[in-house]
Amino acid sequence: MTQNAQNTQITLVIGGTGKTGRRVAERLTALGRQVRIGSRSGEPAFDWNEPATWEPALEGVDRVYVTYYPDLAFPGAAEQVGDFAKVAVAKGARRLLLLSGRGEEAAGVAEDNLKASGADWTIVRSSFFAQNFSESFFLDPVLAGEITLPTGDAVEAFVDAEDIADVVVAALTDDKHIGKTYELSGPRLLSFSDVATELSKATGREIKYVSVTNEEYRAVLREHGLPEDFADLFTMILDGRNAHLVNGVEEALGRKPRDFADYAREAAATGVWNV
Ligand SMILES: NC(=O)c1ccc[n+]([C@@H]2O[C@H](COP(=O)([O-])OP(=O)(O)OC[C@H]3O[C@@H](n4cnc5c(N)ncnc54)[C@H](OP(=O)(O)O)[C@@H]3O)[C@@H](O)[C@H]2O)c1
Repeated sequence: MTQNAQNTQITLVIGGTGKTGRRVAERLTALGRQVRIGSRSGEPAFDWNEPATWEPALEGVDRVYVTYYPDLAFPGAAEQVGDFAKVAVAKGARRLLLLSGRGEEAAGVAEDNLKASGADWTIVRSSFFAQNFSESFFLDPVLAGEITLPTGDAVEAFVDAEDIADVVVAALTDDKHIGKTYELSGPRLLSFSDVATELSKATGREIKYVSVTNEEYRAVLREHGLPEDFADLFTMILDGRNAHLVNGVEEALGRKPRDFADYAREAAATGVWNV
């Protein structure tokens, strides 16, 4: 395809204001690609729960970065992703890249449903994002100095959303990534207690990790207006199944992933954790 043809086709970035979508949209725009943000606040609006919004958002689109919200492990998500992929292919989008979660069985069903659309697919299966602590539901706990979770001394290979965005953009702009599944992690396993230590170092304030039961954590989520199903999701993905490093960043990009300490230092410098 010529450079001009590439520039007139639109990439739909679902969740394009979110943690990975925003970074993917910025990178594609910098490369001269046309980008449409797929979200409830996009123009036109795209809502996973309103299938009538899907076709208008797909007008003129040849490739899609598919991120689901709240999570592919939630009931109905895998079916919605499969239905969306069929609509996308019927509208002329041939290239679909799905952001998936490591070790989540339901996410695997979503992957299969997306592949069944007949699209040229790439799957990016991610570990827990570092940016959850600065741009998402763990921001308030970090500001309050206490991260509460039902995960005991489980370890996780936190991955930087900057690395995810680099992999996604590489895959969306080079056909050699078609048919590949990349499993992404950072370079180090950390417990939530280790995370609290790194965040304390980066912020110069004491941040503690408090391990609670699943039931106690459901109450915390309720209090903050977040889906209670996150408690089961965290307990599941942090039961040891993902307690090893994987090398998708290096496979896709030929370089090492960023370390959590670098993320923490850079996030602290933005002032996001200033109280
Ligand atoms: N967070 C992690 O650590 C992690 C790890 C592995 C995999 N994942 C996967 O990543 C995906 C995204 O999760 P995330 O936590 O990173 O969220 P996120 O992308 O930061 O989510 C926010 C984005 O989703 C949009 N959005 C929210 N509700 C929507 C709806 N009903 N329809 C369309 N767009 C909607 C928001 O825009 P509007 O508000 O404008 O709609 C915003 O652009 C999930 O499928 C999850 O399984 C996440």
